[in-house]
Amino acid sequence: MQSNIILIGPMGAGKSSVGRRLAKQLNRKFYDCDKVLEDRTGVAISTIFELEGEEGFRQRETKILEELMQFENAVIATGGGVVLRKENIKLISNNSIIVYLSASVNSQIKRTRHDKKRPLLQTEDRHTTLNKLSEQRNPIYAKIADIVIDTDSQSISTSIQEILQKINSLDS
Ligand code: S3P
Repeated sequence: MQSNIILIGPMGAGKSSVGRRLAKQLNRKFYDCDKVLEDRTGVAISTIFELEGEEGFRQRETKILEELMQFENAVIATGGGVVLRKENIKLISNNSIIVYLSASVNSQIKRTRHDKKRPLLQTEDRHTTLNKLSEQRNPIYAKIADIVIDTDSQSISTSIQEILQKINSLDS
């Protein structure tokens, strides 16, 4: 298994938490696109949105992805909007296993209820925002994924076990 494992899915699906633990278990390096971007710029994602708008953020996100895709054998968590650009999809599809962590809007709302950092969630009506995003993005996540994990009713450890099982059955 030389390929990168790329985690995709909506905000609150658990990409960062699952990714970090999965990497540890597999003894691989873990990278979180948003975190790498924050470390690189020295500011929070919300500040990038404020100063450069979503478009500025998306350009930076693609550059970070280009860099991270140079690695092999890593676990990489992406931001929920990564599937919006065709060039990103092309980048992450190369030599990788794409794992879609799916989550219903209700789970997303529960898991992000204290969130003050994600710019797209700072709206009056999170339900409507998340519904719109899921209508637009969920079909794309599903289309490009090699493996789909429904995170709604299971713990992080169970999701990880399911990912490992499904990766093994891809190999055989
Ligand atoms: C975004 C999701 C965020 C982050 C940014 C935009 C999105 O990442 O990249 O706020 O468009 O869904 P998470 O999915 O890790 O929250």
